[in-house]
Amino acid sequence: MGHYYSENPDVPIREKIVEVYLRGCRFKFVTASGVFSFGKLDRGTELLIENMVLKNGWRVLDLGCGYGAIGVVASRFVGSVVMTDVNRRALSVARKNLKINGVKNAEVRWGNLYEPVKGEKFDSIITNPPVHAGKDVLREIVINAPRHLNDGGLLQLVIKTKQGAKYIKALMDGHFNEVRELARGSGYRVYAGIA
Ligand SMILES: C[S@@+](CC[C@H](N)C(=O)[O-])C[C@H]1O[C@@H](n2cnc3c(N)ncnc32)[C@H](O)[C@@H]1O
Repeated sequence: MGHYYSENPDVPIREKIVEVYLRGCRFKFVTASGVFSFGKLDRGTELLIENMVLKNGWRVLDLGCGYGAIGVVASRFVGSVVMTDVNRRALSVARKNLKINGVKNAEVRWGNLYEPVKGEKFDSIITNPPVHAGKDVLREIVINAPRHLNDGGLLQLVIKTKQGAKYIKALMDGHFNEVRELARGSGYRVYAGIA
């Protein structure tokens, strides 16, 4: 079970720091072996971060946060952020990233999909979903998003054009009032579903 979405990855821990400019600001991230995108910022995550809609005061959920790039960047521009993941190593690295980037308005929680935010609502759910976990997981993320969104709230996600985009877009069309393509590039699409 050496994949990046294990609860406790079995590969020895190694860490690498990455430094990036995103949305005009400089960020430093600790990345770790056994956590998605070790030693780099994923291209899909970057496209999502550069194009995601963020508003002052918003409450945001970063679902499947990994080492926390989306949540850390979002926290600069919104009111508060909850970051969740099933991988405990990811959460421990995400906590370090909140600290080294001086983030005070975000928290991390462990758990499967929406379990850590049961009964809670957000202005936006933002995710680079765990495609390798299978279609059922993608489906759960999309179809359960509206019940965790305020009216007019956004599910914003990135997906590989050739690995799930058609499937996700069709699902979103069926569960949201409107779906917009926010960006495309490097083999990825960024979609926003409006609840
Ligand atoms: C494609 S990675 C994206 C990580 C991070 N958001 C980024 O963009 O670098 C998907 C993340 O979802 C997490 N994940 C997988 N299955 C999950 C589940 N059932 N519930 C919550 N998180 C899950 C994985 O551990 C992984 O960190």
